[in-house]
Amino acid sequence: MKQLKAKIIGNKRIAPDFYKMRLASAYLAKNSKPGQFVEIECSKGGEIFLRRPLGVHRILNDGIEVLYEVVGPGTKSLSAKTAGEYIDIIGPLGNGFFVQRTAYSAQRTAALVAGGVGVAPLVALAETLVNSSKLIVHSKRRKLYVLIGACKKGHVLCVNDLKKLGAEVVVYTEDGSLGKKGLITQGLTSLLSTINYELSTIYACGPYPMLKAISHIADSSGISCQVSMEERMACGVGVCLGCPVKAKSGGYKMVCKDGPVFDSKEIAW
Ligand SMILES: Cc1cc2nc3c(=O)[nH]c(=O)nc-3n(C[C@H](O)[C@H](O)[C@H](O)COP(=O)(O)OP(=O)(O)OC[C@H]3O[C@@H](n4cnc5c(N)ncnc54)[C@H](O)[C@@H]3O)c2cc1C
Ligand code: FES
Repeated sequence: MKQLKAKIIGNKRIAPDFYKMRLASAYLAKNSKPGQFVEIECSKGGEIFLRRPLGVHRILNDGIEVLYEVVGPGTKSLSAKTAGEYIDIIGPLGNGFFVQRTAYSAQRTAALVAGGVGVAPLVALAETLVNSSKLIVHSKRRKLYVLIGACKKGHVLCVNDLKKLGAEVVVYTEDGSLGKKGLITQGLTSLLSTINYELSTIYACGPYPMLKAISHIADSSGISCQVSMEERMACGVGVCLGCPVKAKSGGYKMVCKDGPVFDSKEIAW
């Protein structure tokens, strides 16, 4: 992890309120893992005091991409930045998803479950899973399922990118404007009713209630599950104790330092 100035290569609006920012940094390209995040200084001069955490969306040869939703002053300020500007970044931070090359090659099927913009880090993970094992995801024996849930159509992101990787993508929206109507947890339950026996790992990122529900589903199905949590953060490096999550073993874990990815069994939901 280090503090660096990264040149913005592009900052493209991909849907109303959602942007993809491409950042040049050989260091971040070399050292980032799926599930890790960066802390970005959104404005110079201190009017937005704290850095904002964003997950690594894609790891490129010469840098990384982040995908973000404009929800407040920090992300609004980021959305106004243009190619050629430099921004101050600390990263990569936290741990990433646990992907064991040999284990994944041997396993047949994984499911990635996203809630809203929680799909952002799962794209880097999908790319790593596919590339690391040279997985033939179209084959009948090996499959990568990606389940994306969102409130409405405009919040369903990255479907084509994931399909291009060979993933089978299932979409649920709460208002039924795209895919099936309902919550993505229904999608997971329905998937498990057909493929439970061959699913080896669930990886999930999204709001807390969704992660909690997925953790229970995984537990009752006996499937291992990793969750990426998105608590509000301040320092991002384990110093301010501002991002606690209750641990099953007692006490608290700091999402920024001990996570953001946890084995779902570690959390006292
Ligand atoms: C490890 C980590 C990775 C993240 N990755 C991404 C990502 O890849 N893409 C993305 O769009 N966002 C991501 N987030 C959330 C992102 O950091 C916040 O949306 C951002 O900091 C908001 O800043 P703001 O100044 O625009 O809005 P604020 O004014 O800070 O917040 C606006 C609204 O969003 C809510 N909010 C802010 N932060 C969070 C949060 N962490 N969880 C839930 N609600 C929140 C606030 O309560 C408020 O209602 C991540 C958060 C964490 C901790
Ligand atoms: S944000 Fe400071 S300890 Fe996690």
